[in-house]
Amino acid sequence: MAKLKTTFFCQNCGAQYAKWQGQCNSCKAWNTISEEVISKPEKNDWKTPSNIASRTAKSLKINDIDTAQEARLNTLDTEFNRVLGGGLVPGSLTLLGGEPGIGKSTLLLQISLKLPYKTLYVSGEESQKQIKMRAQRVHPNSKECYILTETKTQHIFKQIETLKPDIVVIDSIQTLHSDYIESSSGSISQIKECTTELIKFAKETATPVILIGHITKDGNIAGPKILEHMVDTVLQFEGDRNHVFRILRAHKNRFGSTNELGIYEMQGSGLREVSNPSEILISQKEGDLSGNAIAATLEGMRPLLIEVQALVSTAVYGTPQRSATGFNAKRLNMLLAVLEKRAGFRLGAKDVFLNITGGITVDDPAIDLAVVAAILSSNEDQALPQDYCFAAEVGLSGEIRPVQRVDQRILEAEKLGFSRIFISKFNKLGSHYKTIDVQRISKVEDLVKFLL
Ligand code: TYD
Ligand code: MG
Repeated sequence: MAKLKTTFFCQNCGAQYAKWQGQCNSCKAWNTISEEVISKPEKNDWKTPSNIASRTAKSLKINDIDTAQEARLNTLDTEFNRVLGGGLVPGSLTLLGGEPGIGKSTLLLQISLKLPYKTLYVSGEESQKQIKMRAQRVHPNSKECYILTETKTQHIFKQIETLKPDIVVIDSIQTLHSDYIESSSGSISQIKECTTELIKFAKETATPVILIGHITKDGNIAGPKILEHMVDTVLQFEGDRNHVFRILRAHKNRFGSTNELGIYEMQGSGLREVSNPSEILISQKEGDLSGNAIAATLEGMRPLLIEVQALVSTAVYGTPQRSATGFNAKRLNMLLAVLEKRAGFRLGAKDVFLNITGGITVDDPAIDLAVVAAILSSNEDQALPQDYCFAAEVGLSGEIRPVQRVDQRILEAEKLGFSRIFISKFNKLGSHYKTIDVQRISKVEDLVKFLL
């Protein structure tokens, strides 16, 4: 056996050191450096068929490089395709990250079962029987999906050589281990080595590889973080485990935009693509309820109409409570102060609760106006017309500020049958709208006058 060689890795950022030290020079974290055993690989390579091994790279003029064969592989999942920028690029490495239990394995198994290509789904976490049970729930019939339960990369490559799949899915990168490295699976050196082998395989055979990567709740595991530099595309699967919606985002994409977003709903039979999220996020209610307002927000490039609910009531305790779900609590306090100072509402002695329905967290400042409208509506116990919606930011002096891509928001509201949308006076409109009345206001007081 080769002589044992050890190196020290920071478990937080992946930096490498020759000897132990207390603090990592690169990420400044304390006590994160630990020793890992590695042995010099004799032949650091995946088992290449001879025809590939003998191929040597040659430099080419950029104009002469043929992109015709780089057609993307359609995954038959509209949301997944959209986030990837139109499908899987041959030879690309995609990393899908997310908290445990969010549905990463379900999503990729479901896509593998649907794919019209020969797919190899490698799992190091579940047995073939368990995967079959899950497959029967999500998509019972599939012709071209092969399941392999294996963790050693050399064995996986052996299977790949005989099977020759068009797409490889690995669940998960933390469970893989390579013979060329001595340390245990999930350690930094193993993850780096296995990914390097997979990158080599993907680039040489033009097979797309999708990896699943775990992230712990506190984000301590460095694994996927160091991987982000190595792979072509980093996707993040997020959402609240207690809510049904899941959002797929691209954090890095070498072949497309990172603004696109995919939305899924977790059901008993797997994940369902949600092609029209606004319709689900707006609850169907009977009669008029006070404290509800609809915001026309943008998630990435997608317009999304979201319901905001507020409850304003007289405080029972000395200090009024303020609580916000899905919205920044500091921003809520700011909006309450603006209403108090600029519109003369006595909210200082009231409890205020705010909730964004559907378990979604919104960062788009365009939701401000809907929050203000919901608070006003609840405070006066006066319901807003159900076909009104709002899209503007509220400034500290009570001014209504313009937001980006306002036309896209208005179009979405029009499509869903809203009759009136409130926007900032300073937003320039790109076109005329026939069925929706665009109300342009400049101050919070204007909104109060309109609604109450
Ligand atoms: P899973 O894909 O195992 O999560 P991850 O791989 O990200 O750790 O999915 C976890 C959750 O999904 C599990 O708690 C149950 C739920 N689920 C459903 O609600 N319906 C289904 O059809 C499936 C397969 C899972
Ligand atoms: Mg899993």
